[in-house]
Amino acid sequence: MAESPSIAVVLGVGGGLGDALAKALGAQGRYDQVVGLARRRPEGWPDSPDRPFIEADILNEEDLTAAARGLRALGSLDRVVVATGVLHGPGVAPEKSMRALDATTLAQLFAVNAVGPALVAKHLLPLTPKDRPSVFAALSARVGSISDNRLGGWYGYRASKAALNMLVATLAIEHRRTRPLGVCVALHPGTVQTDLSAPFRKGGADDTTFTPARSAQALVRLMDDLKVDDNGGFFAWDGSRIGW
Ligand SMILES: NC(=O)c1ccc[n+]([C@@H]2O[C@H](COP(=O)([O-])OP(=O)(O)OC[C@H]3O[C@@H](n4cnc5c(N)ncnc54)[C@H](OP(=O)(O)O)[C@@H]3O)[C@@H](O)[C@H]2O)c1
Repeated sequence: MAESPSIAVVLGVGGGLGDALAKALGAQGRYDQVVGLARRRPEGWPDSPDRPFIEADILNEEDLTAAARGLRALGSLDRVVVATGVLHGPGVAPEKSMRALDATTLAQLFAVNAVGPALVAKHLLPLTPKDRPSVFAALSARVGSISDNRLGGWYGYRASKAALNMLVATLAIEHRRTRPLGVCVALHPGTVQTDLSAPFRKGGADDTTFTPARSAQALVRLMDDLKVDDNGGFFAWDGSRIGW
């Protein structure tokens, strides 16, 4: 029987890392199609048959149901990369102290950073192949590590990424039962020059941060190197494990 076409999907292609990850996966030339998802089609998204675009909000299950239907018709999902996330925005700023804790902000961070990727997994993990390796990767952040938390602050972002990590670890256990070759992981991309990190970067000669392209290349290589024993893990861009 012929193998089903090989599909890579990136969610959040309007973002700095999502865009770079879609380009890096495309440059590998190993997928029949690299599909981008975002709330709006990014300017410059290539209108070519090997780069389909699907409009979807990761918090809208009707969108995700429709996206899954479209993706199922294309082939098997060998890579699913969730590159959505929020740290700051209108009405959302990382909390410097407990005085800044706010129920609406916390709920918004948890929704986008933890609930959204879990819903993506619910709809897209069933489309990963049963007969060959695959990777579901959600972009987390080192600051979501409880054991690594020495500075404090950023309550909502840290806690929402810790929740994401637990969701990924739990998904990995269930996923293994039907997809023994499949791997679910949480990945830290490094500090990357995107809108998300812009207000917090030093800039100038002290800037040791990555371009989105550099981080995406490292993440794509890391995903290719993952083994089944890595299922449920939390890894940095260089392949090192991060403690929970
Ligand atoms: N940059 C860093 O230094 C860094 C470090 C550690 C971890 N990360 C993680 O890496 C991931 C990507 O971050 P980035 O730096 O590329 O940030 P970014 O440029 O701000 O991109 C984030 C993307 O998430 C999308 N998004 C937010 N809510 C969404 C929703 N409900 N449905 C669909 N898309 C939604 C945004 O879409 P719109 O364009 O529609 O708003 C945006 O394109 C995030 O999870 C972030 O926490 C980044």
